[in-house]
Amino acid sequence: MKKKFESKFIVLDGPDGCGKSTQTAKLVEYIKNAGVEVSTFRDPGSTTIGEKIRAILLDPENNLMDDRTELLLYMASRAQLWREKIEPALAAGNCVILDRWVSSTCAYQGFAGGIGIGKVLDIAEHSLERVWPDLTIILDVNLATAKARMNREYDRMEQKAAEYHENVRAGFLKLAELRKDIIVVDAGDAAEKVHNEIIRKIKKYLVKREA
Ligand code: TMP
Repeated sequence: MKKKFESKFIVLDGPDGCGKSTQTAKLVEYIKNAGVEVSTFRDPGSTTIGEKIRAILLDPENNLMDDRTELLLYMASRAQLWREKIEPALAAGNCVILDRWVSSTCAYQGFAGGIGIGKVLDIAEHSLERVWPDLTIILDVNLATAKARMNREYDRMEQKAAEYHENVRAGFLKLAELRKDIIVVDAGDAAEKVHNEIIRKIKKYLVKREA
């Protein structure tokens, strides 16, 4: 398995409350055990500039933020993250695990926000050196399960209406239909079961890719 994970760019994504943090930690451990160095980052964030942009994006006081401003700030944080962190980590042979990426902008701003997935991808093509990771894993979860996991104060994005978040979920599933390098995992189960399913699907995908 070692060779398969070297210099691979893998994204975990999904609606708020889908369990990304737990699954990222488990996946990182699995890949490290396979003998590969792993770098993990969160999008937006993980650079000094990116964390400042993240704070602006998630501050509930910024309720006047225009949809396009929102979209461009996510893209700006990502451009910085690629240059400062992801590109060098991949060049060093590390496996890079990202918490969210362009798939989130497609689902949130593109599908739920109404800008359109096509337009988001156009802007991404013009803004980023790399739009698509080697593999994107979408953790699919229904709204009730997601809410039950989010036992904390909501940020600006989380405070958006239930209908918006239903559409975010639908947006992720729509995106997965459009691309073969996106796999969907049912994330409603217990963490260990979800992890095993992620590993099963990753192995299947990597084997298929080599065939
Ligand atoms: P996080 O809390 O999972 O790190 O994500 C921050 C919030 O930003 C979350 O509600 C999802 C949202 N988001 C977008 O709306 N568009 C994006 O492109 C990204 C990366 C995140």
